[in-house]
Amino acid sequence: MVNLGMGFKLDAKENSKRESSAIDDVINTNETKSSFSGLNRVSSGIQGLDEFMNGGYPKGNIVLISGTPGTGKTIICFQFIESGLKKGDNCLYLTSDQPVKNLLYEAKQLQFDFQSEIDNGKLKIVYLDLDKQNLHKDIEEIVKSGKYDRIVMDSLSPVTEMPMWMVNNGKEVIPSSNSMTTTTIPLDSIQATRLHLRHLMKIIKEENSTTMVTTEIPEGSRDLSRDSISEFLVDGILVLGLDTTMGRRKLTIRKMRGTKHALKPMDVEITDQGFKLR
Ligand SMILES: Nc1ncnc2c1ncn2[C@@H]1O[C@H](COP(=O)(O)OP(=O)(O)O)[C@@H](O)[C@H]1O
Ligand SMILES: [Mg+2]
Repeated sequence: MVNLGMGFKLDAKENSKRESSAIDDVINTNETKSSFSGLNRVSSGIQGLDEFMNGGYPKGNIVLISGTPGTGKTIICFQFIESGLKKGDNCLYLTSDQPVKNLLYEAKQLQFDFQSEIDNGKLKIVYLDLDKQNLHKDIEEIVKSGKYDRIVMDSLSPVTEMPMWMVNNGKEVIPSSNSMTTTTIPLDSIQATRLHLRHLMKIIKEENSTTMVTTEIPEGSRDLSRDSISEFLVDGILVLGLDTTMGRRKLTIRKMRGTKHALKPMDVEITDQGFKLR
């Protein structure tokens, strides 16, 4: 039994066999054996959280951060980036929800001085222009422009809701200015979203960076992403919850390929320094 820290050991004792087998289900045996070393782990930047997934996110994983508005998705991305910058990682932050200026302001409120990291070339923040037809190509160029250890896409939702084109022979095609030879797939079709996501995930996976993508789910939704497809394509999912009646926040590791992890929702709070386990 791998030591996941005090909290997890207690959980494992308390819980039934059903929970243990659910944990075992997430383990890809070969990958797990080699990734139990800290060398293959990437810190979340949240004190105490890494212990609940055997040392951190498995390197190279794409982790989806899912939650309703205001649950702390952007803050969790900040902490992920900050923890990388502290150890000299090259980081890329793609923002589609808010312009760079606003993002830097939000980060500064939480004591993250990203401007100096931009100035010394360790962090690149890019605002994605969703009106551009060749967005995928742009993203691909940006992602390949540096050897990034950590990438954030905040958020994935507007990107996957863009129009999508497809060539007549059925080959996947990203939106392009040369739409003469293409057939449009309806904007809200599941095929369009799937094509977007598959293409984006492929671009990111090729880089071997550890990646965080956010998705905003509507209040009351039982899906894990706005598009209800992303959750099947990513390697890991953290769900952020907010109980406004009780004034409580929860963080659940819902899925994390290649590692054992805690299953129970954890009590968390957001402070001036970001997320903390309670
Ligand atoms: N200093 C702070 N102390 C406590 N809570 C904070 C602080 N700063 C921000 N928050 C909380 O974080 C929320 C914003 O988090 P954010 O990551 O931007 O949400 P999301 O990206 O999920 O919409 C705010 O609505 C607020 O509840
Ligand atoms: Mg946000």
